[in-house]
Amino acid sequence: MSASQQPPDFVTAIIGGSGFDQMAGFAHERRLQVATPYGEPSAAPILGHLRGRAFAFLPRHGVGHAIAPHRVNYRANIWALREIGVRRIIALAAVGGISAGFPPGAIAIPDQIIDYTWGRRHTFYDGSDEAVQHIDFSRPYSEKLRRKIIAAAKKGGVDVVVGAVYAATQGPRLETAAEIDRLERDGADVVGMTGMPEAALARELNLDYAALALVVNPAAGRTRNRSSGEIDMEAIEKYLAVATEGVVEILANL
Ligand code: HPA
Repeated sequence: MSASQQPPDFVTAIIGGSGFDQMAGFAHERRLQVATPYGEPSAAPILGHLRGRAFAFLPRHGVGHAIAPHRVNYRANIWALREIGVRRIIALAAVGGISAGFPPGAIAIPDQIIDYTWGRRHTFYDGSDEAVQHIDFSRPYSEKLRRKIIAAAKKGGVDVVVGAVYAATQGPRLETAAEIDRLERDGADVVGMTGMPEAALARELNLDYAALALVVNPAAGRTRNRSSGEIDMEAIEKYLAVATEGVVEILANL
């Protein structure tokens, strides 16, 4: 990428998850093709504006939502964003709600993560050509960025749940009811498939990273529809649409 391609003001990136392959209200200006030592990112990052605010945008699952959570090239995505000048990342993630305070429709700003994923390329320090680094990850999200998001939500009049333990599962299948019971015993409030290794990779590159977790379904075994007990995919679409409005309001007020 040439230096002339690099606008200095697109320091905040949004990584869009399921349902956010395109951000409503986000005016696309241009795409930046970026090469990384880790291969191709999910898509070329897009620069644009949301209600007058500059953002870079990267659809985590690619254009057309073709990349499964365990196949996302998280390293290339995070590297590409840093390469174009991004210093802050707000990750959007659809999640299942586990504990009582996280019903469908809620927007949570998680403060902790438990990682249950496996087999993903999860570090830039794999010891092959650089000294291994053990980053501090006691607080996996940037407190500074979380505070900004919480303030923006308040300003925009959007209710958010401040603080949640995010369980990152492997997917792409949803969990069993017993797995969700275990996650709850472990202390998880919400469950999604993409929070890791994304958050850790951002920390390895010293980028501020925080997430907006949008509860789109009760997690397995937590469904209200006890007769079928199954997660209702149509309802997920509905809650995603509702959450999008809140997310846009938060981002516009950052
Ligand atoms: N589990 C895992 N990931 C998810 C869920 C879920 O119930 N809902 C949305 N993403």
